[in-house]
This record gives sequence, C-alpha cells and structure tokens, in this order.
Amino acid sequence: MGKSAYIHTFGCQMNVHDSEIMTGILEEQGYSRTDSPSNADLVIFNTCSIRQKAEQKFYSELGRMKSLKKIRPWMKIAVAGCIAQQEGKNILKRAPHVDFIVGTQNIHTLKNISSATFERVAVHGNPDIATTELPIKRNDGIRAWITIMYGCDNFCSYCVVPYTRGREQSRPSENIYSEVSELAGKGFKEITLLGQNVNSYLSDTDFPGLLRKLDRLGGMARIRFVTSHPKDLSDDLIRAMSELPTVCNHIHLPLQSGSSTVLKRMNRGYSFSDYMKKITCMRKEIPGIAITTDIIAGFPGETDEDHQLTVSALKQIEFDGIFAFKYSPRPFTQAAEMDGHVQDSLKSDRLNEILTLQDGITFQKNKSLVGTVQEILIEGESETNSEKLTGRTRSNKIVTIPKACSRKGAIIDVEITKSRRHSLEGTPVNS
Ligand code: SAH
Ligand code: SF4
Ligand code: F3S
Repeated sequence: MGKSAYIHTFGCQMNVHDSEIMTGILEEQGYSRTDSPSNADLVIFNTCSIRQKAEQKFYSELGRMKSLKKIRPWMKIAVAGCIAQQEGKNILKRAPHVDFIVGTQNIHTLKNISSATFERVAVHGNPDIATTELPIKRNDGIRAWITIMYGCDNFCSYCVVPYTRGREQSRPSENIYSEVSELAGKGFKEITLLGQNVNSYLSDTDFPGLLRKLDRLGGMARIRFVTSHPKDLSDDLIRAMSELPTVCNHIHLPLQSGSSTVLKRMNRGYSFSDYMKKITCMRKEIPGIAITTDIIAGFPGETDEDHQLTVSALKQIEFDGIFAFKYSPRPFTQAAEMDGHVQDSLKSDRLNEILTLQDGITFQKNKSLVGTVQEILIEGESETNSEKLTGRTRSNKIVTIPKACSRKGAIIDVEITKSRRHSLEGTPVNS
C-alpha cells in the first residue's frame, strides 16, 4: 500500500495554494492525501504567522501530535509555511517530535523526501522557486488559484510577511499564460491571480498588461486577483477592469485605518484622501463594483480620534465586506517596538464597534440586491444544506439556489430573492 500524507493548512490563500503544490509533489512520490493525521505516514503543518493567534493555534495542534507519534513512531512530522520560515530550527528545540522544517521558498525540497541528502531544515530561500514549475494537485475543478508573484517588499510596519516570504519577485508571464491555457483545457472557469501586492507585478509586462493578455487568450469566463495595494493601484488598472469582460467587478483593497497619521506610521504609502480618490474613480468607471477591505484595530499609538476616523471611513465608503483584526505585535517588525501599545480590552472594544457597524452595512448592501438579476458561477453543493447549490456573483457575493436548478461549473443568471447577513438566495431566470 502507498503512503499517506495529511496536510493541515493555516492562513491565507497563498498557503492553501502552496498546500496544493505540496500535494502535487508528494503524489509524484506515491503519497495519497488523507484527511486525518491518525492514519498518516507524513503530517505537514503549513503554518501562518500573521497574528499571534494563528501561531498559537498551530503550536497547540502540533502539541497534539506528540501522543500520536508515540503510537505511530514511523510517522514523520514536518512544519512548513511562514512560521517555519520565521523560526527555522528553533521549532526543533521547542518541539523535538518534529522531523523536518520546510521554508516558504523551499517547497521544492519535498521532491527528495526519501533521499539521504534531504535537508532537515530548509529555510534558506532559493530564488529559483519563482522559475521552477512544480506539479500542482488542485482541490477544485472549477476555480483555480495561480501565483503571479512571490514575497513582498512593502514592509508595512506591523507585518511579518516580508520576513516570512522574502523579497518580491514576479513570475515570468509566459509561465502564467501557459498555466492558464492548460487550466482552460481542463475545464476550469475562473482563475484568481495571487500575490501580496499584485498591482506591482512586473515582468515583460505590468499588471494591467497581464490582465489584457489573459483576457485575450480566452478560455476563462472569470478572472479575479488578490491582494491589491492602494498605493500601486493605477488608473490603467481601473481602465483594464472596466474594459475587460472576463475581469470581475470586485476588488479587495486593504485600507487598514481611516487615520492618515496611523497610515503613515503603518508605512502604507497613502493617505486616507489618496484612498478615497481611488474608490471614487473605481465606482465611477466600473459598474456595480464590490469593494472589500482589511482593517486593523488598536495599532500602537492609535487614539480615540484615530479610531473614530476609521469608523467614519467605514460609514462613508460602505464596503461590501471587511476583515478586521486586533493589532498583534509580530517578531522583527517596527511596530512591535513602537510606543503607545493599546490595551487589549480597548482593542477588543474598537474591533467590536467596527464589526457591528460593518455588519449593518453589509446587510443593507445585500438587501439592495434583492430583485436584481446576477450572473453566478456554481461552485457546488452548499456546505450547510445539501438541497442547495452555492455560487458567486461576479462581484464575489455568495448566492444559494435550489439544487435541481443547475450543476457545478454552470454559469447562469439568477434573480436574487432574499438577502441574509452574509449571503443571498436566488432562483434561476429563464432566458
Ligand atoms: N498583502 C496584503 C495582505 C497581507 S496580510 C496587503 O497588503 O493588504 C492580511 C491582513 O492581515 C492585512 O491586510 C492586515 O489587515 C492584517 N495584518 C497583517 N499583520 C497584522 C498584525 N500584525 N496584526 C493584525 N493584523 C495584521
Ligand atoms: Fe504585509 Fe504590507 Fe506586504 Fe501586505 S503589503 S504583505 S500588509 S508588508
Ligand atoms: Fe499568508 Fe499567514 Fe504567511 S497570511 S503569507 S500564511 S503569515
């Protein structure tokens, strides 16, 4: 019987996609993926270090593996991802039951997992990764995630990513084109281009150029991308979004704070009014665009006034959705050393105020879609109701429809009949 591998993925879409690559590499070596560590020969934790909570969650899961390894002593445990990169061999000191460490730029080392020369701690980045094409075992047959750039050079003062993912590097455009063509041939309908700051993509073309070429290549009904950085969002990108039929009318554009003094200390490279100008322009040029964002509550030195500026920014902009987090000090980052750290209880109060306010806004936004007709791409059976299918609008809103009406992978028009807090209900429109 072949060996089996269990991969536990924490963190962002980039990690989810890296796990697809790890699965591809392991399958080439005869492993099959299992969904429980208790019958696995190899357990990989693909970790996230963005906030302390993510790190704690991983260490508690890792702790649980100790007793499992006692009864399955041949089982190998690996730590990959952002904590692996950040902590390197310190993890082996803290958790001696870990067998090896794979950094974020060393996923390819898993190719030699059974060889004698296999490195136990591989965290020294290999820049070749960007040009090395690795096998990918995708989870979904309809939507695919494609890395277009690695790393980040922005050094926002709170953020650990530049230290865990290394320097920014764009993938050659021809590799992206051929990956997309291959996916189109396999019947994929939607791609999401991935990078920490896709707007600064640069190879023989820039990001709007990449979108234009992908649109022209054809084969994909929908193109999405994450994440955009407000400082690099150009007029040309807005033009490309408004002109290209395959590019979806949704943008995730992290604001972080409504206070320009806080934004400055965050080293974000834009003021609140710069951000507003881009929002106004996008809403004018791109019909029905949905805008989502990230907010950090309680950044060091954030005053009540700063916080209120964030609250009024949310009221003014009316985002379609937000992810909001309490500021969490991270190793190596400038902000961790700043004065004026905000008390945890105050961070919680501010976060709650932000989330409650946004909940109402999201609900109102969803309500305003009732009665409209939207195109949705069906992603499969609803997780909460097996009688329903779920899909997404081009603006990235989740819509459930009765199961008998369609099938996975179909693109259909639906009329929105009902709105809920975080999703919509619809019925197909006969055309
Ligand atoms: N590259 C993307 C997102 C990276 S991380 C960007 O620049 O927008 C995703 C989100 O996590 C960030 O947008 C930020 O809101 C949040 N985040 C990052 N570091 C954090 C920290 N130390 N504490 C709290 N939230 C943080
Ligand atoms: Fe982190 Fe800023 Fe880079 Fe985003 S742009 S990954 S927040 S440093
Ligand atoms: Fe992603 Fe977490 Fe790393 S958000 S880039 S897995 S720190």
